[in-house]
Amino acid sequence: MSTAKKEYKRVTVKSLVDMKKNGEKISMLTAYDYSMAKIVDAANVDVILVGDSASNVMAGHETTLPITLDQMIYHASSVIRAIDRALVVVDLPFGSYQSDSKEALRSAIRIMKESGAHAIKVEGGAEIKESVKRILGAGIPVMGHLGLTPQSIYKFGTYTVRAKEEEEATQLLQDAKLLEKWGCFGVVLEKIPAQLTKTVSESLSIPTIGIGGGKYADGQVLVIHDLLGMTHEFNPRFLRRYMNLYEDMSKAIGQYVADVKSRDFPNNEEQY
Ligand code: KIV
Repeated sequence: MSTAKKEYKRVTVKSLVDMKKNGEKISMLTAYDYSMAKIVDAANVDVILVGDSASNVMAGHETTLPITLDQMIYHASSVIRAIDRALVVVDLPFGSYQSDSKEALRSAIRIMKESGAHAIKVEGGAEIKESVKRILGAGIPVMGHLGLTPQSIYKFGTYTVRAKEEEEATQLLQDAKLLEKWGCFGVVLEKIPAQLTKTVSESLSIPTIGIGGGKYADGQVLVIHDLLGMTHEFNPRFLRRYMNLYEDMSKAIGQYVADVKSRDFPNNEEQY
């Protein structure tokens, strides 16, 4: 297995499969707006996920369930206008693909047509077979998402690690194989034991992207607000914070308030 890094001027779904084949880890990060996506893309992140986590970090909802298809399209089109290199994957939101496969295809087409995104992501395995196959049949690349699937949070009742028991682990592996067989180009594995991620990753030729799935995934994804430390009440073990932006921003904004109140801002050089 070669570890030499190939340059990708534009990342495609095929590039991701090649990266796995070449032993190159895949970087994926969420973004939901133009300015953030511009920075993420310029930093050479391979995949930008316009996640339905926008429902949490952008809109302040407790779960991902309330976000609508129109809102996802708004976020996705803002991201698409910013990028030169990354592959942009957009979550189909809760309720836009589970009821029937024709509705699922209509939702996926709206995302592709109205935002210019490159691929969509859906949560689930065997139970969404018809939807996944119909979307793929229309030529739209699909990424799967297994393990802790936040759109099913009320079924799970908790955000704890999934598939620790053999039955659920076996089901997850079967679902991952099905997603590959149907033609998905990758699968997110959220909050499952590292050894299960290893088994799944070794069983598939399409890449696995972990979030709380450990080091054996073919790539990693994080929510950008968590990586930057903008969210400070969310502290799962899997999260590595690269900044404490909450603190830095609070300080900067506090200083601005103090400067306005004390008449320090604006000064003579900062006016016309
Ligand atoms: O919505 C999201 O941000 C996601 C990631 C957590 C994988 O699905």
